[in-house]
Amino acid sequence: MSRLAIEPLNAAFGARITGLDLTSDLSDEEIEAIRTAIDTWSFLCFPDQPMTDEAQLAFTRRLGEPEAEHVALGTTGEVVLFGTVGNIAADGSQQGSTHTRTHYQKGNRLWHSDSSFRRVPSFVSITHAYEVPGEGGATEFASMRNAYAKLPPEMQAMIDPLHAIHDYVFSRTQVAPVDPNHAASLPPIENRLVRTNPGNGLKNYYVGSHARSIVGWTGIESRRLLDDLLERATVPENTYAHQWQAGETVIWDNRCLLHRGTRYDADRWRRRMRQTRVAGTGPTLEE
Ligand code: OGA
Ligand code: MN
Repeated sequence: MSRLAIEPLNAAFGARITGLDLTSDLSDEEIEAIRTAIDTWSFLCFPDQPMTDEAQLAFTRRLGEPEAEHVALGTTGEVVLFGTVGNIAADGSQQGSTHTRTHYQKGNRLWHSDSSFRRVPSFVSITHAYEVPGEGGATEFASMRNAYAKLPPEMQAMIDPLHAIHDYVFSRTQVAPVDPNHAASLPPIENRLVRTNPGNGLKNYYVGSHARSIVGWTGIESRRLLDDLLERATVPENTYAHQWQAGETVIWDNRCLLHRGTRYDADRWRRRMRQTRVAGTGPTLEE
């Protein structure tokens, strides 16, 4: 018998789950309960997990196909199933505010959905916090499901059939140059603008920093709509700022949430989180 307890966060979405050790051999029923909780709450926080990379990868595989990290894959062809978020190098040393990697991660301060620029975008990201700053470095989340539900019905009907081009090079060159091999591995792709959760039928729109334009629309009209949708999704009453605690594992649903990093003093604090992602089941156009 599982003692899994779900407690809603004091926000428009999100829940805290206790009574479950993600590093243990979870039953199919427990995995199913986690899947349902992802569909329902979009953001799940599991405090006090005795996590290791090995256990995180094993848990990731229970939810689907682990996604190969796109920078290594695109640049050198290497398959790497973990990303390190924060300012700590593999040897444990701290990379300060002027380090290239710290700078590169500033792209994560734009609202985005992980891997929305891939042919098969990410289903969920799984992030375990090992070291967290004493101040700053929260990650903010916004629900595009709640934002869709608040749209006037005529606007829902107008955007329902549209497709958007997502383009990593477009979004990342605003922050830093992209390696040519990496850029070539990520041509612009087309996504549905409105997605439907296959479990509960709830709809959301799907935008963020990688969304470049609307198929068949001019640049100006595209920008106007994409900016409007982003603005509606990220109003304060629709967002939740997660203050990380060391030892917690968080799962967020990239199909319907946006997120962004916030500032912290990388010269003063250590921040180290390990991230795996589960790939979606196919291109969004086939959903
Ligand atoms: C991520 C991300 C922002 C942050 O982990 O995918 O965008 O808070 N993180 O560092
Ligand atoms: Mn991200």
